[in-house]
Amino acid sequence: MCNLKGKSFLTLKDFNKNEIEYLLDLAKELKEEKYKGKIDKKLKYKNIALLFEKESLRTRCSFEIAAYDEGANVTYINSSSSHIGKKESIKDTARVLGRLYDGIEYRGYSQDTVETLSKYSKVPVWNGLTDEDHPTQVLADFLTIKEHLKKPLNEVNFVYIGDGRNNVANALMIGASKIGMNFKIISPKSLFPKKELANECRENSEKSGAKIIITENVNAVKNADILYTDAWVSMGESESIWKERINMLLPYQINMKLIEKCKNNNVKFMHCLPAFHNLETKVGEELYKKFKLKELEVTEEVFESKYSIVFDEAENRMHTIKAVMVATLY
Ligand code: CP
Ligand code: NVA
Repeated sequence: MCNLKGKSFLTLKDFNKNEIEYLLDLAKELKEEKYKGKIDKKLKYKNIALLFEKESLRTRCSFEIAAYDEGANVTYINSSSSHIGKKESIKDTARVLGRLYDGIEYRGYSQDTVETLSKYSKVPVWNGLTDEDHPTQVLADFLTIKEHLKKPLNEVNFVYIGDGRNNVANALMIGASKIGMNFKIISPKSLFPKKELANECRENSEKSGAKIIITENVNAVKNADILYTDAWVSMGESESIWKERINMLLPYQINMKLIEKCKNNNVKFMHCLPAFHNLETKVGEELYKKFKLKELEVTEEVFESKYSIVFDEAENRMHTIKAVMVATLY
């Protein structure tokens, strides 16, 4: 049992192994409650602000549904419908929202913004993604792994392949280092995580028993239980970077050859989504016209295969986000 009431959820750096496990156990309980149709309405009369400076499907819907399930009300606010950053500073926005709301979710650019919101609002603030971090994603990923693999998280061989220094890669490495996983990032050298973060995670590993390996070598996927990737260009990055990224990352695409290299018939494919795995998106189509590639970070064949657990992962965003809100507000 942990007491997280009143605490913000800005990065997993601020949480220890017990607290992360507590949130995962709570998410499992809340998921079971929902499946049985017996929700306790733990957040009755709570009001929650959802601030989005970037687009979202899963995160926004998860916060909304989780709040409604538990009896809370939400207000969705985006950059074009508010003064944030244009006419009103983050510090002032935080002080206003803190007077009105019991909790605030923020998705946007700078990690400083989410920290400022937390400091000045004096209510729990939850990071729904910044350029640097995506901690609620990691809780969903870990819950999904627990559901699919018959081994504890600290025995899991987790491989992240692709853009090794984006928000999702960072967040996964932080989470893995806290929980004690065997964790690898495979990416070109220029996309390795920042040294400072890698060192911090290696320090965490001394306590947790995690193993953190960062390498360029694609053959390091051998024995992976989890093969994880994310988009090669993240929200907020320039469109003009696609060409360079595609050239750099094509050898790191998750395709059937790579799955075979894992030498594990039970390997699971994960992706935070959205993913470029076919031409059924506008961006996918535009990229096809320029680069003649029908699929990018993952092939359609893998995405739709028995290895893929991406929709279980997407569903678990909601149960884990609910756990974060309940743990910090109830
Ligand atoms: N994985 C994730 O954060 O999805 P959204 O961008 O749709 O919220
Ligand atoms: N790295 C991606 C994650 C999307 C959920 C992005 O920031 O766009």
